[in-house]
Amino acid sequence: MSDEQSRADLELDSFYRLIAPYYDADYADYLNGADIRFYQRLAEAQAGPVLEMGCGTGRVLLPLARAGVEMHGMDASLAMLEQLYDKLRAEPAEVRNRVVLTQGDIRSTSAGRQFLLIFAAGNVLHSFLERPDQRAWLANVRRHLEAGGAFWFDVFQMDYRRLLSSPDEWIVDTDRKEAASGHHVRRFSRCRHEPEWQRFRVEMRWVTEDAAGKIITENSASVMQRWFTRGELENLLELEGFQVTDYLGSFAADPFGKGSTEQIIRAVPRQ
Ligand SMILES: C[S@@+](CC[C@H](N)C(=O)[O-])C[C@H]1O[C@@H](n2cnc3c(N)ncnc32)[C@H](O)[C@@H]1O
Repeated sequence: MSDEQSRADLELDSFYRLIAPYYDADYADYLNGADIRFYQRLAEAQAGPVLEMGCGTGRVLLPLARAGVEMHGMDASLAMLEQLYDKLRAEPAEVRNRVVLTQGDIRSTSAGRQFLLIFAAGNVLHSFLERPDQRAWLANVRRHLEAGGAFWFDVFQMDYRRLLSSPDEWIVDTDRKEAASGHHVRRFSRCRHEPEWQRFRVEMRWVTEDAAGKIITENSASVMQRWFTRGELENLLELEGFQVTDYLGSFAADPFGKGSTEQIIRAVPRQ
């Protein structure tokens, strides 16, 4: 692992530690749940347990486990997994018993078995800034695939207009009242692009006010992310011995093409 990626890993861990308490509320309406329904359909069509790499707080994993799918989740961030453990404690035993969790790096950690379906939801690959780390992850995915198994993952499709016109301005991208506490939470964010490196630094700031409008907490977090083009993803997958069988542009299963906002890929080990 390069020094640069080691620094990136430390930054990533601290980023997820900061965002973990906000994550579920911030992403409660993410894509109106379309990605959850998409991965649920895949999982229900597949016999046996399913591995989610980068499961985080279980935004996707938990609804699938509730629907009856046996889920194995893997994630490096203890803070994100702790959110999931807390939610699992409130679930009936039959749901809890369907979930196995492993804390570890998805580039190198073993889940101790293989799977017919592995997926990575919610832009996990964007954390891998360097080619060796992207490849190490895919190699680990391959090691976990049972014969006849398939790997699905999603990354977003960069809107190139944003690269050219990026104003670097803070925007309010989440604004909610918390019913239980009466608190008002606003998340401000901005992206600073480095188009030459296909990277952008995401900065987020959460401001929480009490019912009287007095600021009670302010937290901020920042992380570097990498975006990907279709051509390089196909090359990466080929380098790691995969064959791409499906390339979708939305969670409604439209083929990838003009105007696509997502890249959703199915890959299987090349024969
Ligand atoms: C954007 S979140 C997505 C979480 C979840 N899949 C979802 O859709 O809500 C990315 C997750 O990937 C995890 N992650 C990033 N790099 C990782 C690595 N090298 N090993 C394990 N987990 C990693 C982070 O800790 C985080 O929980």
